[in-house]
Amino acid sequence: MSEEALADTAHRLIADHKGVLAMDESNGTCNRRFGDLGIPQTEEMRRRYRELIITTPGLGTCISGAILYDETIRQRAVDGQLFTKVLGEAEILTGIKVDIGATDLARHPGETVTGGLDGLRGRLRDYAQMGASFAKWRAVFSMGDELPSQGCIDANAQALARYAALSQEAGLVPVVEPEILMAGEHAAVICRQATDRVLREVFDQLHGQRVVLEGMLLKPGMVLAGMDCPTQLTAEEVADETIDCLLQVVPAAVPGIMFLSGGQSGELASARLNAMNIHRKREATRLPWALSFSYGRALQRPAMDIWRGEAAYVDAAQHALLHRAHCNRAARRGDYRAAMEAV
Ligand code: 13P
Repeated sequence: MSEEALADTAHRLIADHKGVLAMDESNGTCNRRFGDLGIPQTEEMRRRYRELIITTPGLGTCISGAILYDETIRQRAVDGQLFTKVLGEAEILTGIKVDIGATDLARHPGETVTGGLDGLRGRLRDYAQMGASFAKWRAVFSMGDELPSQGCIDANAQALARYAALSQEAGLVPVVEPEILMAGEHAAVICRQATDRVLREVFDQLHGQRVVLEGMLLKPGMVLAGMDCPTQLTAEEVADETIDCLLQVVPAAVPGIMFLSGGQSGELASARLNAMNIHRKREATRLPWALSFSYGRALQRPAMDIWRGEAAYVDAAQHALLHRAHCNRAARRGDYRAAMEAV
């Protein structure tokens, strides 16, 4: 696929103030969330839940792309249509998680490296044939004394760059996700330093692997204080710190930054994205990239809590999902207000 076609897909994912819905939890993660709510941990229940999400009426008005898991991209709605077809009819692009998860990094206690490069070229070709147009790979960085280590940053940045190059070769837009975990007591300034170090290495490696920046998207976390830090930033401070950090390290050729939610509540994730886009309006000439979302939990959690595996609650769950999607589309315009949550 041409570089123009990759850039066109990346632009479709950020167009019209829409964002991406991450629904690519591995079976283990999905089952854990189902277990907490007493939902049976079966393939059929995962299928029903994912069907609920993608058949939400009007979802395509706020969501440009949905990231699926390997099991999900092969599944069908109850009427027999492949999920990829259902998404296509809603004008939502299909994405696919292509890493196979994080495992312990040898000689680096408390740190992981994400795997999945072996056989990736063939899997990407298969996913493209199934209708995927973008691909995600998540690297994870723990915070702590001396963490993240340079060895962990190097290993994960190189894997991210090799996956990104292979994705582009297969015609899929890579969504490059280096996640700094929120767990810990660290101050926001420590998160900012780690984000800066990680992103510098990631872009060095992307450059080294000849990844076309115009045909990729970056999915970072926001600059936040650790969850157990007594001093938390306001939404405006999060916006200032995050944008100042990204301006130092993310090249202008990257079309969009799609934040992950990382365990933030739906409301906070919307308020902070909104503050960033208000910042964007103030400094319109300085910000080269779209500031958007690729949220998992911050979009889905209320819907899953309502559904609890019961057919009778599907409509209410879809309503809750659409509400969060709508709030985040408003946040992309800088128009989100806390009062929107009262409805
Ligand atoms: P969260 O928004 O729940 O962090 O999920 C995003 C994601 O895709 C994680 O890989």
